[in-house]
Amino acid sequence: MLALDPRLYPQLQLTELPCPNPGPAQLLVRVRAAGVNRADLAQAAGSYPPPAGESPVLGLEVAGEVAACGAQVEEFFPGQRVFGLVPGGACAEYCLLDAALAVPTPDWLDDVGAASLPETWLTAWLNLIEIGRLAAGQRVLIHAGASGVGSAAIQLAKAHGAWVASTASAGKLEYCRALGADLALDYRQDDWVAEVRAAGGADLILDGVGGDYLPANQRCLNADGCLILIGLLRGKDAVLNLGQLLVKRQRVQGSTLRSQPLAMKAQLATALLHDVLPGLDAGRYRLTLDRCFALGEAAAAHAWLAGNHNLGKVVLTVP
Ligand SMILES: NC(=O)c1ccc[n+]([C@@H]2O[C@H](COP(=O)([O-])OP(=O)(O)OC[C@H]3O[C@@H](n4cnc5c(N)ncnc54)[C@H](OP(=O)(O)O)[C@@H]3O)[C@@H](O)[C@H]2O)c1
Repeated sequence: MLALDPRLYPQLQLTELPCPNPGPAQLLVRVRAAGVNRADLAQAAGSYPPPAGESPVLGLEVAGEVAACGAQVEEFFPGQRVFGLVPGGACAEYCLLDAALAVPTPDWLDDVGAASLPETWLTAWLNLIEIGRLAAGQRVLIHAGASGVGSAAIQLAKAHGAWVASTASAGKLEYCRALGADLALDYRQDDWVAEVRAAGGADLILDGVGGDYLPANQRCLNADGCLILIGLLRGKDAVLNLGQLLVKRQRVQGSTLRSQPLAMKAQLATALLHDVLPGLDAGRYRLTLDRCFALGEAAAAHAWLAGNHNLGKVVLTVP
């Protein structure tokens, strides 16, 4: 099968690899679409290796048809349309998907839309709902609001009754507002710390940016507030203000979806089935698809993300 093997980086070319065999509780999926994420760029550059024993092929989310089922799989059948989160391997003609993470694709959703959902919505759900314990009426600050994760997180936080502030570059603020952000701030021009504080501060911050945002986040965070760090776009070195941590009883939590145990990912996948899909069908949520590229154009898709051009999700299509 053709697959995007990051070991060929920086070429980012398709190469011929053996088709994987499904384990007893896995599905072999004929891939039709695979989402592209920042993590893929880091993995391709060698700074985010796949977990031990997982496919080295790029791609963390997949949509397509079941090609074969493992011996213990009873709830899925060959030919069925499915989508879901994978630990790697989605950027290929065939990909393994744990049955516990597979979600049947409804008729009203195409494969590109389905492939745009798992990584961002499950990251948002894990951090806002499971770890952040978001409650109605709380005040949430979401950085990189127009990113794949940010565009899901704004919608999820609003649907749970939060007041939402978001940061993004100037040309993306209207997009954040359209997704529901009550306050959208240009992180280059606005004094976003002052504006968030003036608006009432934040009880929960979802930060995929890191670096020098740490002290700024601490100044925005209300007493007993929680900062969840999910990314390092501004670097991994920062100065923590222990005085504010202590006096304001702040919590700072790091979090990665990829390293969560299968049981937690399976629990999160039920949120796709029981909340995100019904929410999309009812118009409570919207797809945040930015652009599609063919699998063979993966280098262009990565460049699009690296250039910060996307509003929401980028997806690769597999003929
Ligand atoms: N921990 C986890 O489990 C997990 C899971 C998924 C994603 N993530 C992380 O979440 C973040 C978003 O991921 P994604 O795939 O959704 O990203 P994405 O769609 O590629 O969007 C990232 C956006 O971040 C903004 N940005 C880039 N560099 C920045 C900087 N130096 N300062 C401020 N903003 C910057 C850009 O938007 P502007 O034009 O607004 O600057 C860019 O478009 C990444 O850090 C990613 O690694 C973590």
